[in-house]
Amino acid sequence: MVVVDVHTHVYPPTFVELLRSRSSVPYIRTFPETGDVARMVILPGEDDPNTPSTARGRPVGPEYWDIAHKIAFMDTHKIDVSVISLANPWLDFLPSDEAGDAAQKINDDVNDQCSKYPGRLFAFGTLPLSAPIDVIVKEIERLSKMKYMRGIIMGTSGLGQGLDDLKLDPIYAALEKHSSLIFLHPHYGLPQSVYGPRTNEYGHVLPLAMGFPLETTIAVTRMLLSGVWDRFQNLNVLIAHSGGTLPFLAGRIESCISHDAHMKKEGKLEGRRPIWDIFKKNIYLDAVIYSEVGLKAAVEASGADRLLFGTDHPFFPPLEEEATQWESVSTNYSAIKTAFAQDDKAAKDVLGGNAVRILRLHE
Ligand code: URA
Ligand code: ZN
Repeated sequence: MVVVDVHTHVYPPTFVELLRSRSSVPYIRTFPETGDVARMVILPGEDDPNTPSTARGRPVGPEYWDIAHKIAFMDTHKIDVSVISLANPWLDFLPSDEAGDAAQKINDDVNDQCSKYPGRLFAFGTLPLSAPIDVIVKEIERLSKMKYMRGIIMGTSGLGQGLDDLKLDPIYAALEKHSSLIFLHPHYGLPQSVYGPRTNEYGHVLPLAMGFPLETTIAVTRMLLSGVWDRFQNLNVLIAHSGGTLPFLAGRIESCISHDAHMKKEGKLEGRRPIWDIFKKNIYLDAVIYSEVGLKAAVEASGADRLLFGTDHPFFPPLEEEATQWESVSTNYSAIKTAFAQDDKAAKDVLGGNAVRILRLHE
């Protein structure tokens, strides 16, 4: 049996340098009160001046950029292969004329990191989404020829207008043409106002537990509504965090669409592919949901053959410094074990077999 982690991040040294050179979000810096420990401030709202610097962002160390730490983490948690990806906010914040070169450097760095551990590391590349379309398409083509790349990771903002933007069509077309999987991952959450004035009292809980999955759910629903999968019937998307809340809400989404008089009048209901069809043909879900309940919804929606184990390392480390086993990892392992207690083959597929097949990791 092979265990493959498809949701595991790195910030390669080139990217870390970039964050260290910045003073607005996203940035990495030390504060007088935090001594030598640098803090990484990346999420919208994390830079609130009312938040003390010791609670701003998160402490970062080599586990975020040193690939040897990734391998040590894999060994501790019995993970054979990791498909590493740059974490949020990727290159979304870069000026248009800098994004293309930055993407090339970072993708080369990541591919190179994989080459140091043959058979243990593959990667999802990063796109220069603020660059002109032809630059983005060229990077998709370049990535499709790189030995360890197995698709791309991206957020929900697209070119700045979300994933239902028709200007994304050449990008979806290029990804479909090269059979490059999109690993869709949240970053922006929801508008700060929905978290209420006391949000800072609750650390990162509201943006991470609610903001992230709902952001993902809305982004994918907008793709569906704009007919992305009607135009690109072979476009494959691996959705983070077991699809946000999509498996749970899919029935409601379908019902709202089929009862919408405006969409009917505009002819948008004719010949459209229902979400259930897309779940089974175009969507893969990771198993980063930390409970059997969520996992079962994911299996019901897309099937045990489309579900893939992940950890979200290096995020969610244990709060007790001495712990070596990460509870965030063992919770996901246990959820898989319990959900598939009666089906050993399915458990093995979710843990690694599906990833090997879908991402062609034997090649
Ligand atoms: N927090 C983030 O900012 N990104 C992740 O992937 C997980 C937690
Ligand atoms: Zn993640």
